[in-house]
Amino acid sequence: MSKLWGGRFTKKTDQLVEEYTASITFDKELAEEDIQGSLAHVTMLGKCGIVPQEDVDKIKDGLLQVQGMIRRGELEYTIANEDIHMNIEKQLIDLIGPVGGKLHTGRSRNDQVATDMHLYLRKRVVEFVGLLQKLQEALIAQAKSNMDTIFPGYTHLQRAQPILFAHHMMAYVAMFQRDIERLQDSYKRVDTLPLGAGALAGTTFPIDRHFVAEQLGFGRVYDNSLDAVSDRDFILEFLSHGAIIMTHLSRLSEELVLWSSTEFSFIELDDAFCTGSSIMPQKKNPDVPELVRGKTGRVYGNLVGLLTVLKSLPLAYNKDMQEDKEGMFDTVHTLQGALQLFAPMIATMKVNRDRMRQAVNQDFSNATDIADYLANKGLPFRQAHEVIGKTVLYCIQNKKYLLDLKLEEFKQFSSLFEDDIYRVLQPEQVVNARGVYGGTAAAQVSGAIERAEAALQLT
Ligand code: ARG
Repeated sequence: MSKLWGGRFTKKTDQLVEEYTASITFDKELAEEDIQGSLAHVTMLGKCGIVPQEDVDKIKDGLLQVQGMIRRGELEYTIANEDIHMNIEKQLIDLIGPVGGKLHTGRSRNDQVATDMHLYLRKRVVEFVGLLQKLQEALIAQAKSNMDTIFPGYTHLQRAQPILFAHHMMAYVAMFQRDIERLQDSYKRVDTLPLGAGALAGTTFPIDRHFVAEQLGFGRVYDNSLDAVSDRDFILEFLSHGAIIMTHLSRLSEELVLWSSTEFSFIELDDAFCTGSSIMPQKKNPDVPELVRGKTGRVYGNLVGLLTVLKSLPLAYNKDMQEDKEGMFDTVHTLQGALQLFAPMIATMKVNRDRMRQAVNQDFSNATDIADYLANKGLPFRQAHEVIGKTVLYCIQNKKYLLDLKLEEFKQFSSLFEDDIYRVLQPEQVVNARGVYGGTAAAQVSGAIERAEAALQLT
């Protein structure tokens, strides 16, 4: 089969070279974007009088036929045609004849492939904002049904202070909100058109790049033709944001795995999101969060991989850059899978509030509040901390919790203790005392939910 670039060559490409350099096995995922870009390009060639309108019409008609073949799975991709761009162009020429060869006027695969990837990621950015919002909705729904569920908040994975389970859910909503904002910010860079940069220096044809941008809905056009074909920052940004999203999902995964263990028993994931063991009949394994936690590794790898490809790469296009695709597709697919599963998994998660309450009743996570109590009565906080440290030690030695102590026992440690200490130590009181903006008090958490819901409607 003759190559679209075969003129200068006297020999056939070595079979192994053909296989090694081809990208069609993976870049066929860009087929829709490639056609979309070509349709806009050829329309512009017609408008600018570079290609006669009747040829433009034939090419457009041919491109639509190829699009139909692709959608029906009828286009046979071949490695001999190297990549998606040449597979499509070759098919076009096969269908409509040599006039199809006019499509590539004033264009290079270098600005073509960059355009395809901008179109592809622009869609993904919008899609991922939507998927993240679905997950936020599920977390907010859990928060709303757990406004009076108190459970231990941890630092160092040691019980620290009791908090509302709703507050914990809303922490993740805030994390995913930052992810959404990062993606939205990156939109203006992904929404920039490289086409028209040619191979690297622009083109001699009197093309109209802004007209192409308008047709493809791009907000901006790359200002520098070298930069247009060399830039892969928009992919790096996407991979970075993907890596941060996976970090957040992985932290949540770890908590879900821990909380579903018998030792914690704080939550139960729905059967539909768990799997069993082939040998141990009693097992119900949290495979989904485990796998999301595990897949975080490959998403980090994709980012580091592309950073390394681009490091020290001279301008403009180098074949190295073909390596930008597999990692990008992999991050897209991995994130799609994780986010699509997480929203319904969180929505159907059962929260074991009695068990959470029991945990709070059987710990010293209200200790800070008695220190604050003494500080409020005038004792310097450092001294109060010392007094309560001794009180807790006394409890541990006598197998009691703070609420079990009699007033006389409290008074052994400080004469400032009065009857009102029992109210101060109640978990509800401990939680609601943290009424500072952003704190775990129910009023604050309600405010956070309202703000998150408002942001969801705005975006
Ligand atoms: N398949 C190539 C890639 O993905 C397309 C660009 C090829 N350009 C070139 N000058 N060989 O990078």
